[in-house]
Amino acid sequence: MPQKKKIMEKKQKAVSKQGKMAVKPAVKKTPGTSERPQQLKGVKDILPKDQRYWERVREVAKGFANAYGFGRLDPPLLEKADLFIRSEGEGSDIVQKEMYVFKDPGGEETIALRPEFTPSMVRAYYEHGFTHKPQPVKFYTMGPVFRHDKPQSGRYRQFHQVNYEVLGSQHPIVDAEMILLAHSFFAELGLQTVIQINSIGTPESRGKYIKVLVDYFKNHKAGLSEQDRERLLSNPLRVLDSKDEESQEVLAEVPQILDFLDEESKADFMKVLEYLDGAGVSYNLNPRLVRGLDYYTRTTFEVWTQEEEGGRTSALAGGGRYDGLASALGLAPLSAIGFALGVERTINAMREKNIVPGDPYAPEVYVTQLGEAARKKALSLIEKLRTSGVRIAEGLAKDGLRPQLEQAGKLGVQFAIILGQKEILDGTIIIRDMENGVQEIVAQERVVEEIAKRVQKRNMEKDAQDRQVVDRIDESVLEQNDTDDAEEDLTT
Ligand code: HAM
Repeated sequence: MPQKKKIMEKKQKAVSKQGKMAVKPAVKKTPGTSERPQQLKGVKDILPKDQRYWERVREVAKGFANAYGFGRLDPPLLEKADLFIRSEGEGSDIVQKEMYVFKDPGGEETIALRPEFTPSMVRAYYEHGFTHKPQPVKFYTMGPVFRHDKPQSGRYRQFHQVNYEVLGSQHPIVDAEMILLAHSFFAELGLQTVIQINSIGTPESRGKYIKVLVDYFKNHKAGLSEQDRERLLSNPLRVLDSKDEESQEVLAEVPQILDFLDEESKADFMKVLEYLDGAGVSYNLNPRLVRGLDYYTRTTFEVWTQEEEGGRTSALAGGGRYDGLASALGLAPLSAIGFALGVERTINAMREKNIVPGDPYAPEVYVTQLGEAARKKALSLIEKLRTSGVRIAEGLAKDGLRPQLEQAGKLGVQFAIILGQKEILDGTIIIRDMENGVQEIVAQERVVEEIAKRVQKRNMEKDAQDRQVVDRIDESVLEQNDTDDAEEDLTT
């Protein structure tokens, strides 16, 4: 072979070898494995920046529970599915399509991820002998619940509830007490709400009403949406709170459940309203508020934001009396009432109203150090500061003062503590006010006390400022209400 041809062949081999090398071998993909891990639809990470809202809701929940004597009872996330099926009813949306149900691995049991708390609270009441305690018994809890709902704004598959229950009293004053509690809860968070209230009577009176209702809907079937026609077969009461545009004309003329109440339920409901009037709670009688679960009897209620009054649909909280639940579970009859609020919806409403709680996790003091001796000293100083109750951030792993002070600035701390080689020799420390840059030198042994004092003073000043803002907002709301009233007077 001539020399030139040989060289050409060698070159070609090298190119094709390179070519082969350059092309990455095809990786056989198992579906989904190459994707970046992502959260499931309808569930949400709760990020550090959001925690101030969550902490505020938890704090208010605990505050109300302590003030009104609710004991905390946290039921498990898993229960026998049957508990919910028997309580809520086969025809309820939760049982029909929203409950996460699975067979216990290796067992026979059908398990559900709790879609709500109420049936678990009743189970626990009997299981742990609360029947022998002074009645009524008050429980509260909070945590995640699970419903396979269609994910959209304010509707999640894992969401959180704060839940209050009073078990063992039939008195209508308890109904009023719970409604007042729900109303005050949102007021405490700075949210103005409207209570929607109704009575759905006893299962017997409701049965009579349902017959009339079904006849009415059958006669007006053409005016119902397709989904409502389906609901009519599975759970006719559910058609009442349909939001489908198509059905609204038929719903406007629907027979009202209040006209079918038995005498006792009627008298009871009048009492609840009387107590609410006495307590100055404003409410809206809403005859279409039937709630979707079989266990409800008599008083049912929801808490809506004022915007929802104007047409939006998702309630912040819902509840009612459920005197039939225990019997449905084969337990001794029990009168009880409760409500749950959706934490995500509550937080969304706070955001919409620009209600920003203080951040209980935001660091107040940043500890900086310069040099190995200062680094060691800073380590023990941080521990002392922590035990004094100050929230700390630190730059222990950083070198140089500038990056540490820059970070302190970004974190928005009130004070930075500067511990350098000179301070180690002097037994002193520098406290820098991050608001105005003023620096003070204090003895190392007094630094914890000095910092705690300054942080407390700064927090009190901030609280006073926040209160002034709230007062100004309240005043402007009152003024606006006065103007609205005056305009209404002119138009009537
Ligand atoms: P509920 O009306 O089904 O009642 O739920 C209470 C609250 O949970 C609702 O008002 C809403 O704020 C929130 N919520 C419901 N579904 C979702 C969802 N998919 N995504 C986000 N938030 C949601 C009960 O659960 C009853 N156990 C209340 C009760 C207690 N009745 C008597 N005692």
